[in-house]
Amino acid sequence: MQAGRALADEWRSMQRRLVEHLREPRSSDLGPGCARIAASTYTDPRRFEAERSTIFGGWPLLAGFSGELPEPGDRLLFDAAGPPILVVRGADRVVRAFLNLCPHRGSRLVETCERSRRLTCPFHAWSFDLEGRLASLPHAAAFEDLGRDGIRLVELPAAELAGMIFVRTRPGPPIDAASHLGDAAPLLAALDLGSLETVCSNRLDLESNWKFALDTFCETYHVPALHRDSLSRNLVPHVTLFDHYGLHHRYSGPGLDFEALLERPESEWPEGGYQAVHYLFPNTTIAYTHAFDGHTPVVSMFRIFPGDEVGRCVTLGSTHRRSDAPAASDEEIARMHAIVIDIVVNEDYRIAREAWRSLQSAPPDFELVMGRTEPLLQAYHRDLADAIGLPLPPTGGPGPERI
Ligand code: FES
Ligand SMILES: [Fe+2]
Repeated sequence: MQAGRALADEWRSMQRRLVEHLREPRSSDLGPGCARIAASTYTDPRRFEAERSTIFGGWPLLAGFSGELPEPGDRLLFDAAGPPILVVRGADRVVRAFLNLCPHRGSRLVETCERSRRLTCPFHAWSFDLEGRLASLPHAAAFEDLGRDGIRLVELPAAELAGMIFVRTRPGPPIDAASHLGDAAPLLAALDLGSLETVCSNRLDLESNWKFALDTFCETYHVPALHRDSLSRNLVPHVTLFDHYGLHHRYSGPGLDFEALLERPESEWPEGGYQAVHYLFPNTTIAYTHAFDGHTPVVSMFRIFPGDEVGRCVTLGSTHRRSDAPAASDEEIARMHAIVIDIVVNEDYRIAREAWRSLQSAPPDFELVMGRTEPLLQAYHRDLADAIGLPLPPTGGPGPERI
């Protein structure tokens, strides 16, 4: 089945579920139960270090979309996860990742993203091919006793699937992207993310734990209150679909225009228009909408990374559109991107920063609560704890012991 048809069918089944939720009495998907989570899950430096080294050092991370590297010699730079990483498409069209580090004297090898067949260091002009082998160097005879064959860039695991490019930040075994995406793979393939190009991107530095920042992207319960004067103006409050695909998840809420579907037979509902937010373990959300013309996708992606200490994080926020059928001009997309970034900075991240500061004065056994409205948070905090092999700290308040 074609990806476009699969997505249209998926959206029709989501429309049915949303319309059922909108009938009186209104309802919503909910998780199976509430949970308590110790505040130390966010504040414990030992847990933070384990997340940095085990998750951000060992799990596949989304470095970009295939459409950013369409041709051999195209490259992208990916630094937010820790080490500087260079991703390039080879002459054989395979995507490879390297530490962006020259093996001569350690200079940053590549500084810009122009296409070229060679990666040439700005310091002494050693030049590497797209597979990371030393191809040429000035005054080569002076280095003969090193043996040129042994000199190459440090390669990192990289894989490309469903239009996405994944890397690991440390050398190691290859990435099995199909097993990483698991049950989410068909849905993500249907999104056709490989056809997207980046129009705008921002790096945001925030004083907060990275999970506090991520939490604000992964539930809709806060939208009517925190985004009362922005996002919530177009959304039906407290109605959400949640779908779970192993480590990855999806949620979607109806716009106000959904109310009209209640009165109309399904045969008159609009075709297409899929919209949802997708969480990719461990740190990525991809919001897929048709904000401009109702049928051409625009994607807002946020990737959140630990900073250099437990109370710091870095966010990459980017807006993407299809390169072959743009829904809007660059100026219109840039305006939308600026509005989204403004909401994140001045609404979500204002709360994440203030909550982080408040937690510093909380008693050591302080606990937070996650309700049935926040099932995605419960799931990924549990999965992050499993991934680092450190169980969530026990909790003692009334109700379920912990996630
Ligand atoms: S440090 Fe790269 S060529 Fe010398
Ligand atoms: Fe929000």
